[in-house]
Amino acid sequence: MSMQSVVKSITTTQILNKKGVEKITMLTAYDALMAKIFDGEVDMILVGDSLQMSFFGEQDTLSCTLDSMIYHTKAVCNGAKQSLVVCDMPFGSTSTPKLALESAIRVYKETKAQAIKLEVGFEGLETIEMLVQNGIAVMAHIGLKPQFVRSEGGYKVQGKTQDNVESLISLAQKIEQNGAFSILLEGVKAEAAKQIAQSAKIPIIGIGSGAGVDGQVLVWSDAFGFFEEFKPKFVRQYLKGAELLREGVREYVKDVKSGDFPSEQESY
Ligand code: KIV
Repeated sequence: MSMQSVVKSITTTQILNKKGVEKITMLTAYDALMAKIFDGEVDMILVGDSLQMSFFGEQDTLSCTLDSMIYHTKAVCNGAKQSLVVCDMPFGSTSTPKLALESAIRVYKETKAQAIKLEVGFEGLETIEMLVQNGIAVMAHIGLKPQFVRSEGGYKVQGKTQDNVESLISLAQKIEQNGAFSILLEGVKAEAAKQIAQSAKIPIIGIGSGAGVDGQVLVWSDAFGFFEEFKPKFVRQYLKGAELLREGVREYVKDVKSGDFPSEQESY
């Protein structure tokens, strides 16, 4: 392959430099097919462990394995040549700094992901530092953390009290000091999220955290109407994907049953 034909992917430094200049866009993808469509349109593609719910049909993300994340990240990297690919670290794969480093090294060796994402609180700061020192680009996921749904007793919106807001601001600042290149902020009251974004130098990518942050991420099957079980308040649906697809499936079934498909032109 000649040097000229190599398409350069967006780097974590370019993502950092977008803060205060332009909003950052991110969508999830779980396979090469979707990744090819999103590639170059959004800045980053997240191979989220949400695939365990939307793709695999589980009630939460906790049963997702590292093997599964690596499999899907490989597929997404096959499709994405320009957008920066972030691999989500599943529940239990980053519980100690040593385990997190081993898991992240597997992701880096076995896929072409340019960064990993992990759900953290103050207890995860040492892990972030260790990962960054070992050459792993880290996006820290704070606020509402879906991997804590069982211990928290549900998905609880954050940033409702002054104490909680101050704690999130302090956590974001420490994450920044420990070398993460960005933060994913989920399910935080809009005013609190804005304060967190203003207090950090690294970009804050929000989901369900209002407009005052540095960028947005949505789960692709929510954004394009393929996940029909429920629509969270923070989701804007850009397509009625499931309806469109169902219409297509019905047309196909009708054409096969009637003998209209395949036609002569569609036959050898
Ligand atoms: O797993 C995921 O898709 C996420 C969302 C919050 C974007 O982390």
